[in-house]
Amino acid sequence: MSAQLHFWLNNEEIRCNEPPGLLVLDYLRKKQRLVGTKEGCKEGDCGACTVLVGELQGDDVVYRPVTSCLMPVGELHGKHLVTIEGLNLPYLNPVQKAIVEEGATQCGFCTPGIVVSLTGYLMQTDQPITADGVKRWLSGHLCRCTGYRSLKDAYLHLKKIVGEHTGVEELVKHGWLPAYFLEMPERLRRIPPPVSRDGRSEERLIIAGGTDIYVQRGEMLPEASVHILNRYPRMKGIRRAGRFLRIGALTTFEELGNHPEVQKLVPRIQEYMFLVASLQIRNRATIGGNIINASPIADGVILLLALDAEVVMQKGRQQRVIPLRKLYRGYKQLDKQPGEILTEVRLPLSVGKCQIHFEKVSKRRTLDIASVNSAIRLRCDAAGIIREAALAVGGVAPIPLYLEKTSRFLVGRPCTPETVEGAIEQAMEEISPISDIRGSADYKRLLTRQLIIAHFTELFPEKMQVRDYYAIP
Ligand SMILES: Cc1cc2nc3c(=O)[nH]c(=O)nc-3n(C[C@H](O)[C@H](O)[C@H](O)COP(=O)(O)OP(=O)(O)OC[C@H]3O[C@@H](n4cnc5c(N)ncnc54)[C@H](O)[C@@H]3O)c2cc1C
Ligand code: FES
Ligand code: FES
Repeated sequence: MSAQLHFWLNNEEIRCNEPPGLLVLDYLRKKQRLVGTKEGCKEGDCGACTVLVGELQGDDVVYRPVTSCLMPVGELHGKHLVTIEGLNLPYLNPVQKAIVEEGATQCGFCTPGIVVSLTGYLMQTDQPITADGVKRWLSGHLCRCTGYRSLKDAYLHLKKIVGEHTGVEELVKHGWLPAYFLEMPERLRRIPPPVSRDGRSEERLIIAGGTDIYVQRGEMLPEASVHILNRYPRMKGIRRAGRFLRIGALTTFEELGNHPEVQKLVPRIQEYMFLVASLQIRNRATIGGNIINASPIADGVILLLALDAEVVMQKGRQQRVIPLRKLYRGYKQLDKQPGEILTEVRLPLSVGKCQIHFEKVSKRRTLDIASVNSAIRLRCDAAGIIREAALAVGGVAPIPLYLEKTSRFLVGRPCTPETVEGAIEQAMEEISPISDIRGSADYKRLLTRQLIIAHFTELFPEKMQVRDYYAIP
């Protein structure tokens, strides 16, 4: 039987028939004995297992950091998987040197993952290295002994060493990256497309980015019959068509935030996406997975509810389009038939005429799930009367909640603090939060109030300010 999987692991060509649901982390450590990639939380939270995955894009290979503990091996076909071992040279590379010289490692458990991420950052050609960039690339890493101060110093040290010399070619030229990286575009081009083994999808477990399903059912997936959507990435890409922006269900959060068409509709989308998980998770987590997982605090869903999104569900040749608002029926219960796949999300282009705002409250700024999150879409006329309104709040009901009555209440009213107070009263009737690990029911009610106020004071600073709602002398 011909090998089902064909990819490159560091400088080695791999053809194998591993179970497609096997985790890349387990494959590396148990099958390849490449133990530089560490197993920490195995839930995407610590970054110790970070690897780079390179994919052909035009003539180049683009490398992205991902957590190998949430990625199936079946998705590696045609790609370049880079571990810490694949970055090694006979001497320390600039990232390793900077970390050693600034004392930014102690037990060293987190260090390989951090070296992989920072080297991946240097490999990007379109970004000069900056403190903010380093923060973004390290946002998915925990270090429990050294602390982050010395990593910050390591960044300054690194900046001095590499200067402007970033990008794969420059790094290879300076002897900072193994030379085999230059051959990767040609090597990946030679790999034939995967052989389609599509069967009946209702019999198989669907994996998109894997960032929810591996956390929930990780133990069983290597043995299970799985349908890895990313193996045949037909449902990727974002394009305008008719009245809609059509977003493939396999679009990741990172792709969504960086897409110019999305930025036109939601100008602050990158800022909002930064609040979702970490760079490694955003490189994997898909919009479709966020919707189907149906968490009541799913950040993507809350934003899409306020944007009046529709979803396209497909089974075989049958397709139906439903408003996202109608998809959720109860806790993790969806209007979805067995075997149906969500293929696309459609955003009406008319939302570009509205003002949009998203807020999230969580214990940590990044890599944390919301206690409560909320998004709003508003359009006011020249006289300051609200003509369109859509408000969604997460973490306050068994489903991601579109506040239908509150949204209706707002329409036709002047954009004033009195209207906002009225909307908050309506919202309190629509939500039904419970006390849990993310906060008491009362706290979530309070947060809902604060977030509604935050939406209006952020969007209309000339009409109202925070002090209008509190007795601030
Ligand atoms: C460390 C960590 C941090 C996180 N932080 C956040 C956060 O800040 N905000 C947030 O909202 N979420 C967060 N998440 C949750 C998760 O990343 C998102 O919900 C993500 O969008 C899920 O997408 P996925 O592609 O990984 O889904 P998967 O795990 O692949 O799938 C999730 C479910 O949807 C089904 N499915 C997936 N795609 C389809 C499809 N197209 N059609 C039919 N069924 C499908 C799968 O069978 C599965 O049941 C976090 C997760 C982790 C591990
Ligand atoms: S082991 Fe912690 S993120 Fe993968
Ligand atoms: S050096 Fe020990 S966890 Fe970072």
